[in-house]
Amino acid sequence: MKSHRKHWTERMFVDKAELWLYWMNKKWKNAPRIARQIKKILKRYGISKGRVLELGCGNGRITIYLARQGFEATGVDISQLYIDDARKRADRMKVMAHFIRGDIRRIDRLVHRKFDVVISIWTSLGYYTRQTDEQIFKKVSKLLNKDGLFLVLNTMSREWLLKRFSPAFFEETDRYIKLNRNTFDRLHSVLHNKWMTYRKEGQDLIYEDEIEFDLRIYALCELVEMAEKAGLHLKEAYDSILTLEPAKSDSPANLVFQKCQV
Ligand SMILES: C[S@@+](CC[C@H](N)C(=O)[O-])C[C@H]1O[C@@H](n2cnc3c(N)ncnc32)[C@H](O)[C@@H]1O
Repeated sequence: MKSHRKHWTERMFVDKAELWLYWMNKKWKNAPRIARQIKKILKRYGISKGRVLELGCGNGRITIYLARQGFEATGVDISQLYIDDARKRADRMKVMAHFIRGDIRRIDRLVHRKFDVVISIWTSLGYYTRQTDEQIFKKVSKLLNKDGLFLVLNTMSREWLLKRFSPAFFEETDRYIKLNRNTFDRLHSVLHNKWMTYRKEGQDLIYEDEIEFDLRIYALCELVEMAEKAGLHLKEAYDSILTLEPAKSDSPANLVFQKCQV
C-alpha cells in the first residue's frame, strides 16, 4: 500500500518552513564571501558573466550575492515562504535576481533556457533516492551550455562524516538551543537526524518544535560517478569553498564538474 505520509522535505521546508528559515538566516553573514569565492572559481573557467541557476536556493543568500557579482542569477526552491522572502530581500537590496517556486526533481519543466553554471550549495542532493539524484544530475547536464559547469559545494561527504560523526550535540543562539541526535546507517549511508528546538526564556528552556529527517550521504567517488554518467567531468575538488585548497582524504564535497564535449 502506498504511504500517504509526506516526505520529510515537505514537512521541514514547507510545513515547518519558519523554523528552518531562522537557522538559514544565521548563514547569511558568510554569503558575500562565498559568492566572491564562486566568482573566483568561475573566472578560472573563463566565466565572468552569464546565467547561473541555484538548485534549492532557500531564501536566496547565494543567488542574490551572485546577482550582485554581475551574474544573471535564478534560484529555485520548493518552499513558497523562502521564495517570497528571497524576492523581498532582492528588492530591498536592489538586486535583479529571479526566483521560481518548484521542485528540483522536475527542474527540466521549471526553466526553459540553458545556463552557464548550475550550483547546488549546502546540500540539495541526498534528500531522496540515489536514482532521483542520478536523474537530477542528468537534468542539470541537459540544462548546461557547452562547457557549462555544475558546482556541488559545501555538501557533507561520507569521508567527512565518518571522521566527525557525533551521536549528539547542541547548537545555541541568542534565542534557541537545538539538540541534535544522529544515527548513521553505514550499510545504506543514510544519516538520520532528530532536531529538538527549545526557546530560551530567562533561565528556562521552553520546548518549541522537533523534526526528523534522513540524508543520503555520498562518498566523493559516488558523486563523481553520478556526474560522469550524466556527461559531466570532474575538473576540481576543493577542501573548502573559503580556502579553495585542494580536497583532502576527509573533505566535504566541493566539486567542479564540466559538461563534456559531445
Ligand atoms: C540546506 S538549504 C540550502 C539553501 C541554500 N542553498 C543556501 O545555501 O542558503 C536546502 C534548501 O533546499 C530546498 N529543497 C529541498 N528539497 C527541494 C526540492 N525537491 N526542490 C527544490 N528545493 C528543495 C529547501 O527548501 C531548502 O531551502
